Amino acid sequence: MTPGLRLVTDLTSRSMPTAEFADAMSALASGVVLVTCRVGARPWGMTVTAFASASADPPTVLVSLGSETTSARAIRETQSFGVSILAADQLAVARLGSAPGQAKFLEPFVEPDEGRAASPAVAGALAHLDCELCEDVRVADHTIAFGRVRSVRASRSGAPLVYHGRSFRTLADPVHQPTEGNVQWLSS
Ligand SMILES: Cc1cc2nc3c(=O)[nH]c(=O)nc-3n(C[C@H](O)[C@H](O)[C@H](O)COP(=O)(O)O)c2cc1C
Repeated sequence: MTPGLRLVTDLTSRSMPTAEFADAMSALASGVVLVTCRVGARPWGMTVTAFASASADPPTVLVSLGSETTSARAIRETQSFGVSILAADQLAVARLGSAPGQAKFLEPFVEPDEGRAASPAVAGALAHLDCELCEDVRVADHTIAFGRVRSVRASRSGAPLVYHGRSFRTLADPVHQPTEGNVQWLSS
């Protein structure tokens, strides 16, 4: 029999982040993206799992970034950002982009010919979305940035990088066949 969910902690009286919240979130498997921007005109990127499509028409995405991160400040300043969806073999750039307080300049990892007007794209990413900031909302200690997608700059098929249980992983086999018909969800 599948075990039921039990109440671990009531968080309503807490003001600090709790291990219980982090433990619960670690149960969710997520794709990994690098949110890219420019810091002093140089390409910069931060590793993020809090990324989602927010609207299909016009295409709009959201990312949730710690408000005190260099990336959140740079995105507000430049009013634009990019999202590179990482492939399974891109652990090195995911590690660079997640080292707290460290420089996250991306020169060794970005497409060499990208123009200055657009956001930096990680070379070899599965896809890259170039976005204009259309709205940002502060929620507790994070800022949710909504980006109107200006262009999809690169795309290739391949296995994604996944994060689950505090570890980077690759996908296991599908558990069922793809849905039949022409159904399109926001994340399809
Ligand atoms: C797999 C993974 C996913 C992450 N996702 C997020 C996220 O969605 N939002 C966020 O603010 N930080 C996230 N982080 C943490 C940031 O990447 C990290 O704290 C980064 O160093 C913050 O930038 P800073 O050094 O400019 O403060 C994640 C880290 C890892 C390893």
